[in-house]
Amino acid sequence: MSRYAYVNGRYVPHGRAQVHIEDRGYQFADGIYEVVAVRHGRLVDEGPHLDRLDRSLAEMRMAAPMARAPLRHAMREVIRRNRVADGIVYMQVTRGAAPREHAFPKAAKPALVITAKRLLPKFAQMEKGVSVITLPDIRWKRRDIKTVNLTANVLAKQQAVEAGAFDAWLVDEGGMVSEGTASNAWIVTKDKELVTHTPDYRILNGITRLSVRALAETEGYRFVERPFSLAEAQAAAEAFITGTTAWVTPVIAIDKKQVGDGKPGPLTRALQRLYATYADNPA
Ligand SMILES: Cc1ncc(COP(=O)(O)O)c(C=O)c1O
Repeated sequence: MSRYAYVNGRYVPHGRAQVHIEDRGYQFADGIYEVVAVRHGRLVDEGPHLDRLDRSLAEMRMAAPMARAPLRHAMREVIRRNRVADGIVYMQVTRGAAPREHAFPKAAKPALVITAKRLLPKFAQMEKGVSVITLPDIRWKRRDIKTVNLTANVLAKQQAVEAGAFDAWLVDEGGMVSEGTASNAWIVTKDKELVTHTPDYRILNGITRLSVRALAETEGYRFVERPFSLAEAQAAAEAFITGTTAWVTPVIAIDKKQVGDGKPGPLTRALQRLYATYADNPA
């Protein structure tokens, strides 16, 4: 199947899609991105993802490359041209191409790239659960902005893979778990309270996190936003991650220490089912 990408106003074959060598995303990681899941041909949580894109742009003091209506059209066109029924659409906006100077360029226009690919939900992994290692969170203090500067995330993920784990949970200087390299971290305490980090500068406020939170609240589950320590996570009844591609994935071991009885827990399973139904029927 030939693939197509949208690059600054044109739909081009994926293999020939290019941006300038002085694009600021390439030189400074001066850009932001979004990933939206496509399920049965429909976008999951499109509105919240586009709201977060706007927020990231505002925090970076970057102009939007286009208005929302044409952006939504371009996303759909990339999905259509790539014949994606289940998968993801990726959007990246950088401050554009300009001679290399740290300060904002005066003339550059924001550059927009949109790609899409097929990807089935990872049902086997969701069924079985995953293990994570923990690593120091060495990232900057604006993790709430979804920037393309993922250096620390890339290094941590690679270290996890080399350790035979699915991912790394990042732990701050105070011993608190912030999040995974591309997902939010949750625990269920022994008295059945759902806990996930406060959405502040220390984490990316995941869209899946917000949807799972809304589903949990509808079901009347007890939920609290606060940092939790690594010790608390290892002693928790259940643990899981949320993310656009992970959905709700159980975490069954942290640093080789099993969580609960080492199997996906009942509350995690319940949320997993609720989210799967939600993703299957996006608004
Ligand atoms: C660092 C980080 N945290 C959390 C998430 C989960 O966010 P979302 O649910 O919007 O995919 C991501 C997603 O890529 C991420 O990169």
